Amino acid sequence: MEIEKPSRLATPLVIPLKTMTGPGPTNLADRVRQAGSLPSIGISYLHPEYAELTKDIVEGIQYLFQTKSQLSLCISATGHGAFEAICCNLLEPGDNVLVCTNGLWGERFSIIADRHDAVVQKLVKPQGQVFTPDELEQALKEHRPKLMYVAYGESTGGTLQPLEEFGKLCHKYGCLLAVDAVASAGGVPLYMDRWEIDILITGSQKVLSAPPGLTLISLSSRAWNVVLNRKSKIRSYLFDLTELAEIWGCNGIPLAGKYHHTSSVTLMYALREALALICEEGLENCWARHNLCREQFHKGLAELGLSLLVKDPSIRLPILTTIEIPTEYLNNWKDVCIYAMDTYKVEIASGLGQGNGKLWRVGFMGQNARPETVQLVLKALREGLEHARKNASQHAQL
Ligand SMILES: Cc1ncc(COP(=O)(O)O)c(C=O)c1O
Repeated sequence: MEIEKPSRLATPLVIPLKTMTGPGPTNLADRVRQAGSLPSIGISYLHPEYAELTKDIVEGIQYLFQTKSQLSLCISATGHGAFEAICCNLLEPGDNVLVCTNGLWGERFSIIADRHDAVVQKLVKPQGQVFTPDELEQALKEHRPKLMYVAYGESTGGTLQPLEEFGKLCHKYGCLLAVDAVASAGGVPLYMDRWEIDILITGSQKVLSAPPGLTLISLSSRAWNVVLNRKSKIRSYLFDLTELAEIWGCNGIPLAGKYHHTSSVTLMYALREALALICEEGLENCWARHNLCREQFHKGLAELGLSLLVKDPSIRLPILTTIEIPTEYLNNWKDVCIYAMDTYKVEIASGLGQGNGKLWRVGFMGQNARPETVQLVLKALREGLEHARKNASQHAQL
């Protein structure tokens, strides 16, 4: 052998169980984890189970998104794959796109839209703030975009964007509304059809508590017509929704048993079970459970003397909280995260983008949205703050 087998691969993989209370991925329910280890199968002409699986998932997405859209399917990728899919299917070179940017996700969408040669116009707010219908209308009038992107739950700022009026406003100006619900679907009320959303996306690894690697997407008929009437070719093969619609049996297209790419079938099993758990619980109960955790957590944070980045309680994202790092911890904020992980295997995450070094982020999503998990995080945080304070004063004395 020219290259010897690596000794590090001589032992089985061990990953300790941790409480994943950052921005995701979250812990998996046993039923979801077990589903992920069911036998692999391939496409449908030999495996009727595959056709059933896709139907189960499509109906699960329709329930989760509250939509009758037949154009509901999964993409074999994380949330970024959905960004790519939106840009390559709905935008053509030179198209105007308006990107609501109040955190990292608008920035990221802008980069991807730019790579697809769209003309990016940004409506910008600081992290922790949201957009008003008036601000949106001004921007729509000024830029006349073909599509607008907005994050419903912005997980770097911790905001929940009120959306009810956005669909109507976009349509008044002939614009498609694309909503990023990666960090919100399942945890907060969301109505794709009622709110006239044209493209809705979410990820598998947040409130759904399924493994990362799949992204869920639905298109309104308005958006689908835009895809079908493009002048230029869709530049991506993997993310081409007209191809994916065929392997998902969408819009009355019979599931062809056609090969497009190898689906992440074991991830699909896990996702199917995660959607089934949400159906069993009921969306309203699931939203209420997340809201209860938010109330308990925010009360506990106030008792610890910690303040939140988002000052207006009505726009706080219930499933993920952005906590301001107090001045005295600005140099050693990581000690708090490390203490929580070392002592309790609890994840307290750092800020992302502008919030890095200024915020801690804690999420109670899906399986982790439980009062006992909230209490565990508060305990880890309280002790972590104490520990970091002692560390800092010891260093100061040296
Ligand atoms: C609101 C939002 N959009 C998009 C993404 C990107 O998703 P992914 O990391 O699955 O690619 C995230 C990830 O945290 C997110 O929170």
